Amino acid sequence: MTTLLTTDPDRAAAVLRRGGTCAFPTETVYGLGALAHDADAVGAVFEAKGRPPDNPLIVHVQSADEVAALARLTGPAERLLSAFAPGPLTLVLWARPGLPPSVTAGLPTVAVRVPASRHARDLLRATGAPLVAPSANRSGRPSPTTWQAVRDDLDGRIGAILQGPPTEIGLESTVVDVTEAVPLVLRPGAVSLDDLRRVLPETQPVTRGHDAARRSPGTRHRHYAPAARVRLAEVADARPGSDAAWIGLSPPPPGYARVAVCRDVADYAHRLFDAFRRADADGLARIDAEPVPDEGLGLALMDRLRRASQR
Ligand code: TXA
Ligand code: MG
Repeated sequence: MTTLLTTDPDRAAAVLRRGGTCAFPTETVYGLGALAHDADAVGAVFEAKGRPPDNPLIVHVQSADEVAALARLTGPAERLLSAFAPGPLTLVLWARPGLPPSVTAGLPTVAVRVPASRHARDLLRATGAPLVAPSANRSGRPSPTTWQAVRDDLDGRIGAILQGPPTEIGLESTVVDVTEAVPLVLRPGAVSLDDLRRVLPETQPVTRGHDAARRSPGTRHRHYAPAARVRLAEVADARPGSDAAWIGLSPPPPGYARVAVCRDVADYAHRLFDAFRRADADGLARIDAEPVPDEGLGLALMDRLRRASQR
């Protein structure tokens, strides 16, 4: 198929309304959209990404009110929505009947998010229906933060790409499971643990070996990995070379083929996945990434770096 490139949300929405797939920018990463209630369209998303069918999708809607049509809202869920929606937060809730089983991979729960980016909201409004949208990468590749990265992975495999700017945050949304008494952060993101605890003090991060794999099926799969080997390295452990890239807050010693010195943790998060892809495009063997403190957005950044480095 020919992939339509467009900056017009109405043209992109027309592709979706016909049951096609269309990638679009959100404030976190680009998503690959399809009508959530159209089982064939949802199937095309799994097919285009090469995504394992046991990994459920996030449903994107325009407002907190629309969340209630898809899932049962509890008090804690409502408080998180009023504090953080629209924004980079995904809630895992008990699903109402009606969605194709492929959306939730057969689970009794559904993940829902209200994106804040103007481009995503324009597209949702023009489409007039909830959209599933996993990150718009081939399964196993880093999430795309630019429309060009989407094209590199999915050109010819999807109906359209809504072209927008590079995504602001650059890391995927915070996923919080609120189906049980203790809210659990399944995936850290820009809404930090401290932010969540200001609203729901009992919120806990999911720990390894906990029932994390059961509650967040996606964490079983390889993720966030460039082809180059990612190595966590302080400046003192830097190993410059013509086959290596550096990314971090500090300037490295000379000799790296590519260097990204970031202004702060937010800039680091914003640039990380693009740095992974550029290193791969140049055929580099290694990416040395400087660690940051495990706090705030740094916790989400370190989560992605650790996953990328463990393989
Ligand atoms: O920022 C984001 O969340 C982006 C943008 C496009 O919205 N989307 C995204 O989707 O990152 P994806 O499919 O790459 O990641 C969704 C994560 C996966 O880890 C998946 O396993 C988890 O959410 N998830 C989805 N439904 C779930 C459910 N019912 N229970 C537990 N985890 C779920
Ligand atoms: Mg993904």
